[in-house]
Amino acid sequence: MSTNTDTTTPMPAQPPNHFLTVDDLSPAGLESVLDLASTYKHQLSTAEPHADLAGKTMAMLFEKPSTRTRVSFETGMTQLGGHAIFLGPDDTQLGRGEPLKDTSRALSGYVDVIMARLFDHADLEELAAYADVPVVNGLTDDAHPCQTLADLLTIKELFGDFDDVSATWVGDGNNVAQSFAIGCAMAGVDLTVATPEGYGLDEETIETAASFGNAPTVTTDPEAAVADADVVYTDVWVSMGEEAERDEKLAAFDGYQLNGDLLAGTDAYVMHCLPAHRGEEVDDETVESENSVVWQQAENRLHAQKALLSTLVNGY
Ligand code: CP
Ligand code: NVA
Repeated sequence: MSTNTDTTTPMPAQPPNHFLTVDDLSPAGLESVLDLASTYKHQLSTAEPHADLAGKTMAMLFEKPSTRTRVSFETGMTQLGGHAIFLGPDDTQLGRGEPLKDTSRALSGYVDVIMARLFDHADLEELAAYADVPVVNGLTDDAHPCQTLADLLTIKELFGDFDDVSATWVGDGNNVAQSFAIGCAMAGVDLTVATPEGYGLDEETIETAASFGNAPTVTTDPEAAVADADVVYTDVWVSMGEEAERDEKLAAFDGYQLNGDLLAGTDAYVMHCLPAHRGEEVDDETVESENSVVWQQAENRLHAQKALLSTLVNGY
């Protein structure tokens, strides 16, 4: 909600700080969000108060299901002294055809930040264009930047910093992969992406990564890609909304499963944004192995998003 208590001097119109893609932050901004995330994580573990969003409210619009995103954002707002309102697909007038641009302007009059999980990335851009509060991408078909914040926080915790870390993505060049590629480029993590032909990162993602001086190495050979990796990351082969392509995709991704055979000879950490489809992109043993850091990643959603929300809403 915008407030202007000064009745004599009109405030200049400030465009809201949206987070639709990872590079909506600068590399320095990304670093400072990750630092604040570590601070919040420490403060939570030592029960130090950090009510930096006291009295603030977030609306959460979901067109798709969620466990981690919904619960980590809602819990994060509570821990920061604020409040979050869950709005599922049947909870608002969007379900009865009210345009996003009208929803966006109405919500802007009530809340301090809007988080949205939508199918079409263009819809998220429209929501943001009409909002006068920050809009945060809780996942679209093209991007999952909040996941990347948690992923980079996890890598930082594992290695101390990003220098000399080599990550490999194996599987679908999907929304999670695209945001991870941009985040790695911004943070200075070397990334190799192994996908079947036709399922790679889109050109725009590769160009954005290259603009930070760190384009990913692209291959169709998962064995070679994981050989020297410090971290190996995968995600589902059939994302939400792609159910009709299931048979075609399962056939295309044969040989790309993270399992003991593929990872033999490496001691890389294993990452997955979750939910995992055991038996498809990863086997049960690998998710449950000593090298798996998937629960650390999932927890870090909470800390990273608290830092993001404070930064966007309070502007520090
Ligand atoms: N990783 C992630 O976004 O999980 P959810 O779909 O459960 O939110
Ligand atoms: N790529 C997956 C990520 C789920 C968090 C999907 O979009 O369904």
